[in-house]
Amino acid sequence: MKNNPVIPYILIMAFGIGLIFFMSLDGAGNKKEEAEGGASTGAEDNSALVQTCIGCHGGDLKGQANAPTLVGLDQERIVDVLVNGIEGTPMTPNMKNEAEAKAIAEYISTLE
Ligand code: HEC
Repeated sequence: MKNNPVIPYILIMAFGIGLIFFMSLDGAGNKKEEAEGGASTGAEDNSALVQTCIGCHGGDLKGQANAPTLVGLDQERIVDVLVNGIEGTPMTPNMKNEAEAKAIAEYISTLE
């Protein structure tokens, strides 16, 4: 393998691939910064709260299949359902504790 003429090219290629990889990581990081910089109200954190709801209630929480819309519901209703559940449905009791349920209800009340 000594003095194999291909080795320098392989090294350059490996270096290039590594560079592209790190540059793409940097780009992804910038996007995240942009998203967080845009609204520093913590709105992103709240939308993370409803990640589990989205699977059944739809991406915009406006309902899908047999899960109804959550947008426009009373905050009290949302807290009640999350803590006490709806018997015989996928909304089991204690899905969230009261504090989480309130945060979720508040977040949903900001949606239209
Ligand atoms: C496994 C699927 C599933 C998940 C996950 C889920 N839901 Fe539901 N949810 C349902 C279904 C189905 C119903 C309708 C129950 C019925 O038939 O009354 C419902 C009903 C509700 C209701 C009552 C709606 C009304 O009109 O009174 C609320 C409030 C609710 N869900 C909130 C949530 C929230 C908030 C989350 C996330 C923390 C969530 N759900 C996660 C399936 C789900």
